[in-house]
Amino acid sequence: MTEIQAAPQADTASIEEMLKASGYSKTAIDYYITKPHMGQIPDADITSEMTGTCGDTMGIYIKMNNGVVGDAKYQVMGCAGAVSAAMAVVDLIKGKDLEYARSIDDGIVFKVLEEIPVKKHHCIQLAVKTLHKALDAYKD
Ligand code: FES
Repeated sequence: MTEIQAAPQADTASIEEMLKASGYSKTAIDYYITKPHMGQIPDADITSEMTGTCGDTMGIYIKMNNGVVGDAKYQVMGCAGAVSAAMAVVDLIKGKDLEYARSIDDGIVFKVLEEIPVKKHHCIQLAVKTLHKALDAYKD
């Protein structure tokens, strides 16, 4: 029993080490490990899906509540950069109106993540583009 519980912790520690060595901040690593906003919202008001040039895919689900984002989730089939960026976007838009959500750009998300490898910056773009695509569709 103890061994079974110890294994995931060891895995998590080694994943953390690898990501740290690759250039991810502690904030970005924590988002990737805990995935606080990963999943779907079955009765979402706003959704969209997007595939990046790298082939990774993500979907966003937004549930509105009195004119603000009540809840949001991303389903991500992609890298650590994509997961951490998506989780950061949700923390940025939750409780905010759609005008604010529309103002989210790569730079704002990067500031939240603090540091991710340069070659992973397009993963932030994918999370932001998925959000904007959903908001554009909702507007139309
Ligand atoms: Fe595709 Fe990160 S490598 S989103």
